[in-house]
Amino acid sequence: MSSLAGKTVVIVGGSSGVGLGVAAAALSKGARTYIIGRSAEKLKVAEQSLGGQGSVIPLSADMTREDEVVRLFAQIGSFDHLVATAGTPPTNYPIGETDVAAVKAFVENKLMGAVILAKHAAGALVPDGSMTFTSGINKDRPPVPGGSVVAAIAGSFGYFARALALELAPARVNVVSPGWVDTPMWDELVGDAKAGFFAQMAPRLPAGRIATPRDVAAAYLFLMESDFTTGETIRIDGGQNLI
Ligand SMILES: NC(=O)c1ccc[n+]([C@@H]2O[C@H](COP(=O)([O-])OP(=O)(O)OC[C@H]3O[C@@H](n4cnc5c(N)ncnc54)[C@H](OP(=O)(O)O)[C@@H]3O)[C@@H](O)[C@H]2O)c1
Repeated sequence: MSSLAGKTVVIVGGSSGVGLGVAAAALSKGARTYIIGRSAEKLKVAEQSLGGQGSVIPLSADMTREDEVVRLFAQIGSFDHLVATAGTPPTNYPIGETDVAAVKAFVENKLMGAVILAKHAAGALVPDGSMTFTSGINKDRPPVPGGSVVAAIAGSFGYFARALALELAPARVNVVSPGWVDTPMWDELVGDAKAGFFAQMAPRLPAGRIATPRDVAAAYLFLMESDFTTGETIRIDGGQNLI
């Protein structure tokens, strides 16, 4: 295992939810930590919430805009670890009612964003650096009906990482697959109904509760620090894939 102390970690999605949890964890390990998102306001709030935890640098960029990603990595220079958590899924509809525009927007953000990040991070990463992308429980336990589109896109990340791990070696490429995590994504997707969803799911989970960003940050830390793990998807879902 390699320590994160003194390493540079770039977290795209670091201004909220899971990414913000990874930022707090990386800072606690002594990493110089960049948090990236589109909204300068969200970045400011996130920076304040991480206050006093060391060297956090907020930078605004949209990962779907290649010019912005080029500018971002030029600003940062050489770095050790890329983490990407950005990309909110669309509302689930049965396949016959698919909102094609919403799905295209999701593919453009989550999947194309990851491709653009990987394209430009590849030249900036140190040779033994890492990239960690984010998939999710919907590929293992899709809601029925309506989970097929998100399952397909989440599932694609495992194959993306396996192929990239070969192409970019000795740099490592992995995926974290969270179960339900209590983040602002839920407030955006379901609003006040969040508490009801969580109250129904928590007792069904082998872990007995809904994850916090801090819970799942542990998997990202492991993948950054473990020199011998590549091409892997780590589920960190409290056993949600089993139920
Ligand atoms: N929360 C869960 O229960 C759960 C479960 C399984 C999987 N996941 C996956 O985990 C990931 C993180 O989810 P979360 O709950 O942490 O979401 P979140 O709280 O909504 O955070 C998303 C972050 O991504 C940033 N972002 C979105 N699009 C971006 C873009 N084009 N360029 C740069 N930054 C962008 C957002 O900032 P801006 O809006 O300012 O850009 C924000 O910082 C998502 O991919 C989600 O699908 C979440």
